[in-house]
Amino acid sequence: MCYRFTLEPAGAAALNSGLEGQGVKPAALAGGKVLIHPLAVRITHWVNAIAMLIMIASGWRIYNAAPFFSFTIPPQLTLGGWLGGALQWHFAGLWLLVINGVIYLSYGLASRHIAANFFPLTLAAIWRDLRSALRGRIAHEVGVYNALQRMAYLGVICAVIALVFSGAALWKPVQLQELAALIGGYEGVRRVHFVAMALVVAFVIVHLVMVVLVPRTLISMFSGYGRKTQLSRDTHHG
Ligand code: HEM
Repeated sequence: MCYRFTLEPAGAAALNSGLEGQGVKPAALAGGKVLIHPLAVRITHWVNAIAMLIMIASGWRIYNAAPFFSFTIPPQLTLGGWLGGALQWHFAGLWLLVINGVIYLSYGLASRHIAANFFPLTLAAIWRDLRSALRGRIAHEVGVYNALQRMAYLGVICAVIALVFSGAALWKPVQLQELAALIGGYEGVRRVHFVAMALVVAFVIVHLVMVVLVPRTLISMFSGYGRKTQLSRDTHHG
């Protein structure tokens, strides 16, 4: 399938009408560079990527010590060398992940970054963008997340929160036994933790494929700036 991300007039018109439905006004030709990703988002995004890598690779090594599926993870993909080492990496990465995540969410809520960039999100918009994506024609406008991105980003944030809570229940099974019982007992919690990890890994694979397909988004995620073509949104993008 050939993905085309540039906006053709017809695509732009369709996107315009779709964006209107999402509370985003068609725009305003904005030729110059505009701030797309505020510094706080960029820093927390890259710290999160490093923390996630540590958590996943060390988590796989911990899983290998007592696998509950019929497979283990190839040791070359794991971190820590042995169970004790992997646990140390996992706890070190945990603090990075949690503190960074709290900063991102606090900033995102207080500055309305989350409200402005991930909402509104409707089933109709998801369905529309899914059909466009399947036809290989989804528009990817720098600075405006389409409905599939909004859903994926909100979904991965929820998956990471589920990872942290199920991880806490695994770490302190006695002190947090009510939480563990709520999630399905110790073995149930292990599976929830694993499934949430698998969702994050699936997200990251798709996320990286999209970055390869639309490499200019990567530059903006470092510099913060992008060039808006044809469309811009009138909602706050801070
Ligand atoms: C090396 C790995 C990664 C790369 C190269 C990468 C790249 C990017 C890029 C380029 C964007 C901007 C997309 C756009 O403007 O359309 C972005 C946004 C985002 N990425 Fe990643 N990413 C990586 C890892 C991750 C991980 C591990 C997660 C979460 C588990 C994640 C979650 C997000 C989220 C939630 C956003 C939206 C940020 C916001 O606007 O608040 N990314 N990423």
